Order: sequence, then C-alpha cells, then structure tokens
Amino acid sequence: MIFDLDGVLVHTDELHYQAWSAIAERLGIAFTRRDNDRLRGVSRADSLEIVLSLGMTEVSAVEKEVLADEKNAIYRQLLDRLTPRDVAPDVLATLDELQGRGLRLAIGSSSRNAKVILDRIGLRDRFDAISDGENITRSKPDPEVFLRAAQFLALTPGRCAVVEDARAGVDAALAGGFSCFGIGDAAEHPRVTWRLEKLSEMLEHLTDR
Ligand code: G6P
Ligand code: MG
Repeated sequence: MIFDLDGVLVHTDELHYQAWSAIAERLGIAFTRRDNDRLRGVSRADSLEIVLSLGMTEVSAVEKEVLADEKNAIYRQLLDRLTPRDVAPDVLATLDELQGRGLRLAIGSSSRNAKVILDRIGLRDRFDAISDGENITRSKPDPEVFLRAAQFLALTPGRCAVVEDARAGVDAALAGGFSCFGIGDAAEHPRVTWRLEKLSEMLEHLTDR
C-alpha cells in the first residue's frame, strides 16, 4: 500500500497555506485557502509558479530560488509544531490493521520534507519504503514517485495500490498502472478506483484481494 503523506496521513495543508501566504503577502499577491488547494501534490517549484501567476508577478530565476527557500524555511518552522498527536486515530488504526494483515507499506510523496514530517509524527518506522521529492525528477501527475515506491518494495504496480487526496495524485497513480483510493478532493476524481470518506474504509475493499 503506497500512501501519499500530506493530506492523507497528516494535514500539513494548513501549514503550507500559512507559509505561502507569508510569501504572497510580501509580494502583494492575494492568496486564499482555495488557491492553496491547487497546490496539493504539486512540487514546491511548481507551487511557486502558481502563486506568482495569481499576481501575474514576474521574477528572475534567482529570485524564484530565494522565494522557494524562504517559503520552505517558514514551513519547516511550522513543522516543528507537529507531534504524533497530529495523526488521527483512524489513520493509526488503519496502519495497524494493514500491517497486521501482512501488507507492506510505503510513502509516495512529492514533498522533500517527507522524512522530517514522518519523524515529527512518529511514523517513519512504520514504512518499508519511502519515495519522496528527494528521489524524483518529475512530480505528480507523473507516476515517477509511485513507480519508485513500487520498485523499492520490489513489487509491480499491479500488486500495489495508492492512497491519495490530490487529483494530480490520482492521475499519477492511474498513469503508473496502480489502482487508487481517493480521499477528500481525490474522491471527486471521475476515474478513481475507490472513494473514501475516511481512511479505515479502505479495509473493506481489501478482503478478497
Ligand atoms: C506535497 C504537498 C504539496 C507540496 C509538495 C512539495 O505534495 O501536497 O502541497 O507543494 O508536497 O512539498 P515540499 O515539502 O517539498 O515543499
Ligand atoms: Mg496529498
């Protein structure tokens, strides 16, 4: 089972929102939570492009690097507040049950902060493999991050399933030949394999697989 991290196992969206808001405000760009929803599953560099496009703001490549670094510094400070209590009981119970059933678990996240987040919330040891922003060159909707996760698990995509909250993540999973559970925004994706209101509902779909 390959889990996206942000928005599936822990809600870091609000922290991304606060960090991007600080950058947008400095540039005089109006940035709402709705705008922030468009950044789900999107890499840091591509997220910056979206933020800049909201203000039709043009900056040099060097400035872009500085802005992305500044956003990340703010975000990293906010991540310091995360604790194991930020993981919902339903998420923990689901991971317990999956491991109890002998499934191997992996992370498939576009974030370059995935390992830091997993350490903060105390879940790093739960995963047999971590594929994240550090080992990919193309972010979702490209399937690279999930294909690498499957490779780390030594399984073909047909033997894995992905869990996603971002539409771009569902596209990535399907493009890679994975079936996909969609939660939140991703449950609205027309081609998602299974729709979930909460993570533990996935267990019902695994009985005969
Ligand atoms: C996840 C989040 C995105 C974020 C991306 C990169 O996919 O859903 O909102 O932009 O990771 O995050 P990073 O931690 O590398 O800046
Ligand atoms: Mg996500």
